[in-house]
Amino acid sequence: MFFEPKNGHGLPHSPLKSCIVPRPIGWISTISGDGVVNLAPFSFFNGCGEEPFQVMYAPTGRHADGGRKDSLVNVEATGEFVANMATWELREAMNETARHVSRDINEMEMVGLEMEPSVLVAPPRVKASPIHLECSYINRDSPDSSSQSPIIVAQGSSDRESGPGLSR
Ligand SMILES: Cc1cc2nc3c(=O)[nH]c(=O)nc-3n(C[C@H](O)[C@H](O)[C@H](O)COP(=O)(O)O)c2cc1C
Repeated sequence: MFFEPKNGHGLPHSPLKSCIVPRPIGWISTISGDGVVNLAPFSFFNGCGEEPFQVMYAPTGRHADGGRKDSLVNVEATGEFVANMATWELREAMNETARHVSRDINEMEMVGLEMEPSVLVAPPRVKASPIHLECSYINRDSPDSSSQSPIIVAQGSSDRESGPGLSR
């Protein structure tokens, strides 16, 4: 099939996300200025540069309260995030952390995941994840700043990967 997104596709769901497979999931932990931990999955996520190694995630749409998603608000407030590896065994917990809940809810506690302190950044890590990328925030971008549902890219440089065989 061929279609231009601006003209619609005539299907129940847009096939565009399925054009990029397999989809990596960045399970992003951040912490608010008030110290509330947030954890949420992002499939708009990937490694996107090296020297320094960089990763990006894109919080699109809105928080249930109408403002921007916590994963964006927090990274802008504190300048740090952790990308936790979401494994097959953690898939159900990962899905649960996508729920739209109040900003004062710590999703790690909500789904019973054990947190552990990060080495270099304030947001904690998901202990059960085998790989953690501890990142400092570089910048954000939006293709259309007037959009009601802006796509915002947070890039982070990761100075340390940790996990089996990856610590350095
Ligand atoms: C597998 C999966 C992938 C997701 N990917 C994205 C994504 O790339 N961007 C996004 O904005 N939301 C994505 N979501 C939804 C967010 O995880 C959800 O909106 C979450 O509550 C983030 O909001 P918060 O940062 O306010 O916690 C995804 C959800 C799931 C289950």
